[in-house]
Amino acid sequence: MSAMAKHVLGIIIASTRPGRAGKPIADWFTAIASKHAGFEAKVLDLKEINLPFSDEAEHPRFKKYSHEHTKKWSALVESCDAFVIVTPEYNYGYPAPLKNALDLVYREWNHKTCGFVSYGGVSGGTRAVQQLKQVTQALQMASPAEAVVIPMFPKHLTDGAFISDEPLDKAADAMLDALAKLTGALKTLRG
Ligand SMILES: Cc1cc2nc3c(=O)[nH]c(=O)nc-3n(C[C@H](O)[C@H](O)[C@H](O)COP(=O)(O)O)c2cc1C
Repeated sequence: MSAMAKHVLGIIIASTRPGRAGKPIADWFTAIASKHAGFEAKVLDLKEINLPFSDEAEHPRFKKYSHEHTKKWSALVESCDAFVIVTPEYNYGYPAPLKNALDLVYREWNHKTCGFVSYGGVSGGTRAVQQLKQVTQALQMASPAEAVVIPMFPKHLTDGAFISDEPLDKAADAMLDALAKLTGALKTLRG
């Protein structure tokens, strides 16, 4: 893989709350993804990007964006070949700012891949991921079965830092390996 061009991986931080656990978890995952031979990682932090709620008149498939923030988001999504969504679970679902970010553009997601890092209580955020799979499929994205699931995530947080363990590090690498293969295959569908 190292001799081949790297895929550009966008790591989406879905939580925008003050004091969010999502940031240290995404920092841990980004460090692992940055070492993976198949990817060049960049972070798409929805808190920093700060998209307003749905304010475009046209259906996103036409790419006729009237706002600068949508054009910037479109360019960011366009620049990636693959994504990993780092998401919590809110009321068995995923955060509203993430749905907004997914819905704002359309073609920019098509025929790209999406892996998941989820966290929560006993569920480890898996119910949010199941919902996300339905939505990302409508965006013509594909996901590997391999995923990173972090149940009871507070036990991994110390002084605001995420302390992983070997199974989690291995799960992250396995997911990235599967994501890299799938991304290579899907690239052949894009012009
Ligand atoms: C509105 C809300 C709903 C939540 N619902 C769930 C849930 O359904 N399942 C779960 O495991 N944790 C739930 N939690 C607890 C979260 O796992 C915990 O607050 C976590 O820190 C959220 O991630 P974040 O800090 O990155 O936003 C909920 C938290 C909030 C704020």
